[in-house]
Amino acid sequence: MEQVTLIATAAMGLEALVASEVKDLGYREVSVENGRVTFKASVSAIPRCNLWLRTADRIKVLVGEFEAKTFDQLFENTKALPWEDFIPEDGEFPVIGKSVKSTLYSVSDCQAIVKKSVAERLKQKYGVASWLEETGTFFRIEIAIHKDRATLSIDASGSGLHKRGYRIGQGDAPLKETLAAALIKLTNWKPDRPFADPFCGSGTIPIEAALIGQNIAPGFNREFSSEDWRWIGSSLWENAREEAEDLANYDQPLNITGSDIDHRMINIAKDNAMEAGLGDLVTWKQMQAKDFHSNQEKGYLVGNPPYGERIGDKKEVEKMYKDFGEVMKRYPSWSVYILTSNEQFEQVYGKKASKKRKLFNGFIKTDYYQFFGK
Ligand SMILES: C[S@@+](CC[C@H](N)C(=O)[O-])C[C@H]1O[C@@H](n2cnc3c(N)ncnc32)[C@H](O)[C@@H]1O
Repeated sequence: MEQVTLIATAAMGLEALVASEVKDLGYREVSVENGRVTFKASVSAIPRCNLWLRTADRIKVLVGEFEAKTFDQLFENTKALPWEDFIPEDGEFPVIGKSVKSTLYSVSDCQAIVKKSVAERLKQKYGVASWLEETGTFFRIEIAIHKDRATLSIDASGSGLHKRGYRIGQGDAPLKETLAAALIKLTNWKPDRPFADPFCGSGTIPIEAALIGQNIAPGFNREFSSEDWRWIGSSLWENAREEAEDLANYDQPLNITGSDIDHRMINIAKDNAMEAGLGDLVTWKQMQAKDFHSNQEKGYLVGNPPYGERIGDKKEVEKMYKDFGEVMKRYPSWSVYILTSNEQFEQVYGKKASKKRKLFNGFIKTDYYQFFGK
C-alpha cells in the first residue's frame, strides 16, 4: 500500500490549527470538518503525523465510509472493505463505536456487527475455516455513525496524542498537552522572545513552549500502536524518528519561565521538564502572579489561572485577576493570553481583550482572552 487516507481528530475549536499543522508537514489535500481533519498521504505520514502533530488528539487510518440505515447495510458495506490490506491473519481487532443522530443508535449492536463482518472478510481472504486466533498485532477498529453515515477507521496512535510521555506528576486541573500547545500556537510567539506562564501548575504550557521553541517532535518520548504494523514497516518509523532528531534545534536559546504560587507544583513541573528531556531549559519559580516582573520590554505571557468555578472561590479568584491586571499595566508591550471560564474576566482584569476565542477545556466552556502588546 502506498497511499492512505488519514483522519487527525481534533478537539472542538481546534480543527483549523490541526489542519495547518497537517499542511506544514507537507500534506495538501486536506478537508476540515467538525472534530476531524481528513487528508490523503503516503504511508510515511502515519509515523510523521503521530510524532509531529501537537494539537491533534489522535491519528486514524480511514478504511471506508458509507450510508448505513440498517444492520444489513452496515454488515455488507463493512464486509466489502479491504480489511486484509490492514489486518494480518493473526491480528487482534477489537471494535469500539459511537453513534450520533442516526437510525442505528445501539452502539453495542453496531460494534458486534462490524466485528462479525470484518472477521468474515478476513476468514474468507486468509482461507481460515474456523475462528481467527487474534494472537498478533493490535488494530483497534472504530465504527462512528453520524447522521446515518458510517465511518470505519483503525486507530494508529494508541494512547491519545496528548500523552507525550513526560507527565509524571500533575495538579488538580492540568491542561491537556494538546490544548496547551494550541494556546501557544494561537499567539505570535517566536522562540527568541521571552515567554512566561505565571500559573504554570505542573508546567504543561512552558514545557510545550520549549518543545515548540526547539522544534522537538512532541511524540518523541513515546510509543504508538501502529509502530508494530507490518505494512508500515519499521524503516518508515526509523526514518521519521531520524527526521525528528535532525530537525530538532537543541541550540535554540530560550527564555521561558514558569511560576506558580504553590511550591509543590513547581517541584512537579521541574520533574516533568526533566522527563521531557528539557533539563534546565525552563526557569521555574515559586511566585504569586501579582509579583510578576521582567526586565524584558516585550514578551508573551500565556496563562491558565484558576477559574473560580467552585462556590466560594469566585471572589478570591476575581481579586487575584484584578491584582494581576494592575501589574500587567506596567508591561504594555507584553502580549497577554489568558484562558478562563470567568465571563467577567475583562472587567475584572481591567482591559478589553484585542480578541477572544471560544475553546473547550475538557467539558468547561472557556474564552481565550488575547491582549496584544504594543
Ligand atoms: C488551572 S491550574 C494550572 C494548570 C497548568 N496549566 C497545568 O497544566 O498543570 C492553576 C494554577 O494556578 C495556581 N495559582 C492559584 N493562584 C495563584 C496566584 N495568585 N499566583 C500564581 N499562581 C496561582 C495554582 O496553584 C494552580 O497550579
